[in-house]
Amino acid sequence: MSELDRTHERAPAPAPSDWTYAPAPEGRDIVTLDERYGLFVGGEWLEPRSGEHYATISPATEEPLAEIAQAGAEDVDLAVQAARDAFENGWSAISPSERSKYLFRIARILQERSREFAVLESLNGGKPIRESRDVDLPLAAAHFFYYAGWADKLEYAFPNRRPRPVGVAGQIIPWNFPLLMLAWKIAPALAAGNTVVLKPAETTPLSALLFCDVLRQAELPPGVVNIVTGDGRTGAELVKHEDVDKIAFTGSTEVGKAIQRELAGTGKKLTLELGGKAANVIFDDAALDQAVEGIVNGIYFNQGHVCCAGSRLLVQESIYEPLVAKLKRRLATLRVGDPLDKNTDVGAINSRMQLEKIQELVASGEEEGAEIYQPPCRLPEKGYFFAPTVFTNVAQSYRIAQEEIFGPVLSVLTFRTPDEAVEKANNTAYGLSAGVWTEKGSRILWMAQRLRAGVVWANTYNRFDPTAPFGGYKESGFGREGGLHGLEPYLDFDGAETFGG
Ligand code: NAI
Ligand code: MG
Repeated sequence: MSELDRTHERAPAPAPSDWTYAPAPEGRDIVTLDERYGLFVGGEWLEPRSGEHYATISPATEEPLAEIAQAGAEDVDLAVQAARDAFENGWSAISPSERSKYLFRIARILQERSREFAVLESLNGGKPIRESRDVDLPLAAAHFFYYAGWADKLEYAFPNRRPRPVGVAGQIIPWNFPLLMLAWKIAPALAAGNTVVLKPAETTPLSALLFCDVLRQAELPPGVVNIVTGDGRTGAELVKHEDVDKIAFTGSTEVGKAIQRELAGTGKKLTLELGGKAANVIFDDAALDQAVEGIVNGIYFNQGHVCCAGSRLLVQESIYEPLVAKLKRRLATLRVGDPLDKNTDVGAINSRMQLEKIQELVASGEEEGAEIYQPPCRLPEKGYFFAPTVFTNVAQSYRIAQEEIFGPVLSVLTFRTPDEAVEKANNTAYGLSAGVWTEKGSRILWMAQRLRAGVVWANTYNRFDPTAPFGGYKESGFGREGGLHGLEPYLDFDGAETFGG
């Protein structure tokens, strides 16, 4: 035995749970908040005609951050009019390379101000600063850069199809990736020559309101982008407004269905990006340690508030025990707490309502007979927090295996053969994403052909890129965002059929 080996034997590595970190909070001072915000319409801040405001809070501390306008029907109408004016009187006619220029400017300003945006995003939404800093902000800027590149090349993107803008796009976004979803919506819409009325989610309006300042800095013509805040009632007003040509919605399947019903027969274009209950499938030949990292990233990233989260883990029976043991050990190293702390892995649940939904579904899992595991961790006393959770002994019929929990909760199921893996993975009303972990390239392709999911990740999970189309099958919605496909819903074409559906 070598000297090295003997040393190793005498001093075993400490168990991961012994690790401790000193607090490393990111400074808040970079963010300046107004006491009260109006609506951003026609390049100006307007007081809401509705006269209503509500408080937006920090979900990590429950402290109020600012007063937000609750836009009513009249406010939405003003915003749509501003978007229509901007569309008719300039934006749709300016040269495409000019449009590119504005999008490039927005992208660069987002990069320059990324720390400010990241802190604000974590403050208002509860997500760990490490994620806002390293995922949300770089990806938001990347989307503007990517679509800036297409704005003056639409004729080449859609050869012989004479693409033209649709008009005014109404866009409604959720609270899990507030600025990133704004970028997914606004960048392709503007690149294609449309104008926009966007409604942020009621719990996370602040980064969209700060974005209005970016628009002014970029000197985007007034009215090209209008931001109206408020809850679902504001969204509903936007959906039913007669002068909106296209609705893009990301959120719950329930609201998505209501919007589809509302728009039936109106001729308005619609894309829906809804919920998910993705299977993350681990074969017995997979690299287990890497798979564990992918599982953790798949379901605990952003507190599990991710439509494509890998919330159903499908494990081949022969590796079930070692894999679950490794996973539980890894869970004990996740640090839950202050979203603004750079060491935090799992931040705050976005709202009290969402926390209650998670608690209710977790209770149903225990009642139905699943076995719960949560690592020992001390949750902050104030704010909305939930410990990373794994359920084993889960039957496919349990609610925790069927319903979108949208929280840091994983349900583990098993399979024996690839056919059984496909059958179980597809046994869901949703079809947004899936993961496959195996050494075999041929098996990855075999699985990808059979999984009814818009995105299939192989030996990785939750990887996003503006060039890659993203979207669902079945109750996860329709239409694609990202890539060339993401431009199409914002364009009309002369005579030709649209491709891709
Ligand atoms: P939601 O679908 O109600 O909210 C999403 C957006 O739609 C928000 O901006 C909201 O104000 C707006 N909205 C609500 N009702 C509307 C209506 N009738 N017409 C037009 N717009 C409307 O989602 P919520 O209630 O925040 O979350 C409930 C569940 O939905 C979550 O627990 C999660 O399972 C799922 N969800 C899925 C998301 C995804 O990315 N796929 C995002 C957010 C929630
Ligand atoms: Mg709702």
